[in-house]
Amino acid sequence: MQHRRVIIVHPGGPEILKVIEEPIPEPKHHEVRVKVLAAGVARADILMRSGQYPGAVPGYPYTPGYDIAGVVDDLGEGTSKFPKGMSVVALTEVGGYAEFVCLPEDDLVPVPNDLDPAEVVSLALNHLTAYQMLYRFANVQPGELVLLHAAASGVGTAQILLGKLAGLTMFGTVSKRKHDIVKELGATPIDYQREDFVECVLDSTKDGVDAVFDPVGGSHLWRSFRTLRKKGRLVAYGEMAITGAQKPKRSENLLHHYLPRLLNYFPGRRTVKWYEVFDENRAHSDWYHHDLATLIALLQESKIKPVIAERLPLEEASRAHELIEASAVSGKIVLILNQ
Ligand SMILES: NC(=O)c1ccc[n+]([C@@H]2O[C@H](COP(=O)([O-])OP(=O)(O)OC[C@H]3O[C@@H](n4cnc5c(N)ncnc54)[C@H](OP(=O)(O)O)[C@@H]3O)[C@@H](O)[C@H]2O)c1
Repeated sequence: MQHRRVIIVHPGGPEILKVIEEPIPEPKHHEVRVKVLAAGVARADILMRSGQYPGAVPGYPYTPGYDIAGVVDDLGEGTSKFPKGMSVVALTEVGGYAEFVCLPEDDLVPVPNDLDPAEVVSLALNHLTAYQMLYRFANVQPGELVLLHAAASGVGTAQILLGKLAGLTMFGTVSKRKHDIVKELGATPIDYQREDFVECVLDSTKDGVDAVFDPVGGSHLWRSFRTLRKKGRLVAYGEMAITGAQKPKRSENLLHHYLPRLLNYFPGRRTVKWYEVFDENRAHSDWYHHDLATLIALLQESKIKPVIAERLPLEEASRAHELIEASAVSGKIVLILNQ
């Protein structure tokens, strides 16, 4: 039986994503083959494609795709946890843009069969990142004030949904055209392209916020840090300042790598931590299973409604990358397969 998957053979622009057809993969020992129904598209995939990903990337050719939702299709030897036909979700880091994928059974989390695979897949990267930064890194408490950057992004929209459940008051930096969605979700938008977000936050609060989440990095970390009140927490989790089409200044690179550590020595007992979803969940598989199960329960109880920006077929993976690179969407882009 044949299946289709996207491959990358060398770094480049969106046009290098190619769909190939080949025999479906066979599950090895302790692996399960999953028929993919929804594959997430993320900014991290774009960093990988363009050769800017900070983590390790497999040898070429490889298939991108950080997260998948689907059903168990076949079982390798030594597997025991999942029957065929069960719905599952997984954080894969690579490999998701494919009709079938073989994964270690320990990487799969069971999902009730009646949920929308596009909403389910948005839990594995975006909501898991948002949840763990809020609860495991910043330890947010009801009534706290929080600043989120990229508030209409995949992660940002998930943070607002979860932050509302946590009883937080949230400010979110976002371009003007996306203010309505951020307001509707429950945060106060700040137009970071026209306003100074540090001034806005300090003017609107008594002495700053309790926590700030920064996916931009570089010198932006210093500005985020300045919005914190005493004992405030900064969680850094991205590198938009030093990636993209333009080569970053050397000073931005240096600040990106050294500021998180240095800021911890500033007076005011404020803390700075770096969060990386794949590393954290490989290091703490108990977090991975527990936190994804918590998010699945929230989805099943309709306590969260993930924001799906676009549902596209596999052949439109290049267009999905173009849309993300143009910052044209709010929420998560999902590739729909086998439906
Ligand atoms: N460390 C981790 O484990 C982890 C996990 C997931 C994601 N991330 C990182 O988190 C970030 C968001 O990822 P995503 O997939 O959710 O992104 P996304 O959906 O592609 O959205 C990114 C959005 O950020 C906004 N933006 C760009 N520059 C900004 C700035 N200086 N200030 C505020 N907003 C800005 C843009 O929207 P507007 O300008 O239109 O508002 C853009 O659409 C990326 O840097 C990604 O690499 C890290």
